[in-house]
Amino acid sequence: MVKYKVLYSQRQVKRRVKQLAKQITADYQGKEPVVVCMLKGAVYFFTDLTKYIKIPVKIDFARLSSYKNGTSSGVMEIVSNITSNIEGKDVLIVEDIIDSGRTLAYFIELMKEKNPASIKICTMIDKKERREVEVNVDYVGFNVPSGFVIGYGMDYAERYRDWPIIAEILNPEELPAE
Ligand code: IMP
Ligand code: MG
Repeated sequence: MVKYKVLYSQRQVKRRVKQLAKQITADYQGKEPVVVCMLKGAVYFFTDLTKYIKIPVKIDFARLSSYKNGTSSGVMEIVSNITSNIEGKDVLIVEDIIDSGRTLAYFIELMKEKNPASIKICTMIDKKERREVEVNVDYVGFNVPSGFVIGYGMDYAERYRDWPIIAEILNPEELPAE
């Protein structure tokens, strides 16, 4: 059985997402950004966030995977890329969690090749202390210094994504890998 500690309740999550949406709405006045959901992890955050943003947006999806289970190994594969033309557009990338920064650093380079007008990053959880590659993060839901985070889209071996809360796993060593 998974042992966990609740880090943020449904209420706390909703409140923070609304605050981020408000800030994004103010920052993108007069613009129509392409908001990119990083699958699978960001899906719950992305759908909530875009609903609360009060300017028109376009949405798109990308899925990257790193070979190692759990946190990324640095070897990246594009499972599915965005299909919009983002040349000259403002792009807002939405992530669930940034750890080493490798996944995003790789994806940002890919997006830059498409010549967007701007690229900004929004993440629900930032594990800033664990950064190995520098990434400029513009909007952060919550900072979590360490531990393995699950729920609200985030998984451990593909489980717990559907939990409406954000929690920390207390016994990862006891859990099956599959
Ligand atoms: P990074 O490339 O090291 O920044 O890792 C980013 C990806 O690793 C995230 O998008 C998640 O899929 C996964 N990841 C890293 N830490 C956690 C965690 O605590 N919980 C769930 N997934 C995580
Ligand atoms: Mg992810």
